[in-house]
Amino acid sequence: MPRARKLLCRDVWKVYGPDASDFLRQTPDPSDDALRDAGLIGAVRAANVEIREGEIFVIMGLSGSGKSTLVRCLSRLVEPTGGEIEFDGEDLLAMTGAQLTELRRRKIGMVFQNFALLPHLTVLQNVAFPLDVQGVPRTTREARAHEMIETVGLKGREDYFPRQLSGGQQQRVGIARSLVGEPEIWFLDEPFSALDPLIRREMQDEFLRLQSLLHKTIVFITHDFDEAIRLADRIAVMKDGRIVQTATPEELVLNPATDYVAEFTKHIPRGKVLSLGAVMAPLGDGPFAGDLEVGSRVADVADVVEAAQRPYRVMSEGAPVGQVDAGAVIDVLIGRIGGGAEGRATA
Ligand SMILES: Nc1ncnc2c1ncn2[C@@H]1O[C@H](COP(=O)(O)OP(=O)(O)OP(=O)(O)O)[C@@H](O)[C@H]1O
Ligand SMILES: [Mg+2]
Repeated sequence: MPRARKLLCRDVWKVYGPDASDFLRQTPDPSDDALRDAGLIGAVRAANVEIREGEIFVIMGLSGSGKSTLVRCLSRLVEPTGGEIEFDGEDLLAMTGAQLTELRRRKIGMVFQNFALLPHLTVLQNVAFPLDVQGVPRTTREARAHEMIETVGLKGREDYFPRQLSGGQQQRVGIARSLVGEPEIWFLDEPFSALDPLIRREMQDEFLRLQSLLHKTIVFITHDFDEAIRLADRIAVMKDGRIVQTATPEELVLNPATDYVAEFTKHIPRGKVLSLGAVMAPLGDGPFAGDLEVGSRVADVADVVEAAQRPYRVMSEGAPVGQVDAGAVIDVLIGRIGGGAEGRATA
């Protein structure tokens, strides 16, 4: 079932520099050269994005590609220079300051790369802070903060100060704080990049666990493609302020829109991205070793499929749609299927 639209950007621009708005009005869709000649920086250029309710939408790109600027435009922490943004069907750019404040407080949660905790407040006070700003009475806000602290696994550390916590713990506080107001949409700007790889992986698991409980609409920024494919329902790849492709991780790998995307996805093990639906063969007569879901990642089921003497039946919504055997799985794992440096693209 298609999900409802939560957020929509049409042809959004953020241009920095003198008289940027006038310039963009007179020169719609300016080229790199035109921007440079005018002494302007096109931080976000002609971005079209549709974010659907309940999805994890990842924005990925190298440093300076415009990810933070774009996500800030979505809450108008940065004022777009041009374009249209709809939030829940409402014109975001027409909202007054008071309406925006209300929207950010009630509907938006944000997590930042550098945690951005208040050093002189305890964990409990940091988490309760957004409710404090909203004027929620102390007992209510502390009860709610206790709940969130427990949810992110920090029970018992309520009275610690940020400096007494590890990086991963500090970011859990940041996450609890961003969720305490029960936002509908959750923006995370490289929340785990300051953490070392092991903690980072743990936080990704934690994030997925939280999302399975909370079902938020999420915009998650990262420059790490591995992180993107672990988390994303869909990924928008940015380069030089432009979104060059928006697709599922699987589509990005199978059908990269540009050489740039192909380069980015080249080193990703195919088995982590491709689902059985992309590699299965037409359904035979059996017998079968068992049933597997069409959306399962090849890498996740490779062991059982390889060990079986018979093919597995591939199921979609309870109905058989194909079959997969050890040969198909091995083709993916050694890169014979699924594009990439060593492999051929599948038809
Ligand atoms: N206030 C500003 N004034 C001028 N230029 C800016 C401003 N903020 C951002 N930029 C420029 O816009 C471009 C995009 O910046 P942005 O911070 O959105 O990138 P990013 O993809 O988030 O990078 P990173 O991964 O390093 O966080 C950069 O070239 C940056 O220098
Ligand atoms: Mg950034």
